[in-house]
Amino acid sequence: MGKPYIFITRKIPNHLVEKLRDQYEVEMWDSEETVVPRELLLEKSRHAYGLLTMLTDSIDQELFQQAPNLKVVANLAVGYDNIDLDAAQKHNVVVTNTPDVLTDTTADLTFALLLATARRIPEAVDYVKADQWTSWAPYMLAGSDVHHKTIGIVGMGSIGEAIAKRATGFEMEILYHNRSRKEKAERELGAKYVSFNELLSQSDFIVCMTPLTPETKDMFNKEAFKNMKDGAIFINSSRGGVVNEQDLYEALKDGDIKAAGLDVFKNEPIRNDHPLLSLDQVVALPHIGSASLETRTEMIKLATENIIRVLNGETALTPVYG
Ligand code: GLV
Ligand code: GLV
Repeated sequence: MGKPYIFITRKIPNHLVEKLRDQYEVEMWDSEETVVPRELLLEKSRHAYGLLTMLTDSIDQELFQQAPNLKVVANLAVGYDNIDLDAAQKHNVVVTNTPDVLTDTTADLTFALLLATARRIPEAVDYVKADQWTSWAPYMLAGSDVHHKTIGIVGMGSIGEAIAKRATGFEMEILYHNRSRKEKAERELGAKYVSFNELLSQSDFIVCMTPLTPETKDMFNKEAFKNMKDGAIFINSSRGGVVNEQDLYEALKDGDIKAAGLDVFKNEPIRNDHPLLSLDQVVALPHIGSASLETRTEMIKLATENIIRVLNGETALTPVYG
């Protein structure tokens, strides 16, 4: 019998899959940039024992039904809203993600986005490059202070805590809202637990870090934006689906809130005719939270290790359920 077959849904560096190739027949989609076509993904899954997937792949019931040998889906992300977990469980497939290794990197990016939005860095860069800088002026590109302001973190998992830790360096007051209390963050970082509405009404910066689930879908809607302070700045680096983008657009346009820094969108890639991108006060990034060379390599190593373990009958390092 040949080696068990593993399919990787994006081109990743060869040296990072050598260990997999020792034991398995490994094939990858031959593109770094484009999503594997659905039909090809289904065809490859039909005889795969393991899949290494991206957050851009929909791993759903239809796929599980057609993949009788499949034992493990290793998602190259901490989020796994692209995977139907009920269907995976029904078909006895282990699903793994890549938490921890990306925590600090994603917190760095989120803080960079917060600073860039508050201090209008992208506008300022464009201004210089477009040769609009004719003199120094007292209020030229004046933004909002970050230091000593109040940050409200919605979704206090490990990335939320790492953001809070960075906020202590800026001497910010830290509020958070989460399903459960985080005593360590309260004790060590001085984070204060508040209701969702209190957080919205008291924070200068509202940072969304909550995963996308049926409960969190569209939780940042018209009412939520109305409850925010005048001058509030909204930052999202979790999933676009937690935001009603039309409501966000209107809140920004009507001046209910001041600015938004967004690393994620409901439909990615966002196109430049999207209304949000017409606003100067929106800083938009192409979903790069964990995108450092070091961290992407660690994520790939963790995902391949999870595949090897599950196929060897061991427990995955980071399964998404028990
Ligand atoms: C990226 O968004 C991730 O979930 O890792
Ligand atoms: C600004 O550059 C200042 O000197 O105040």
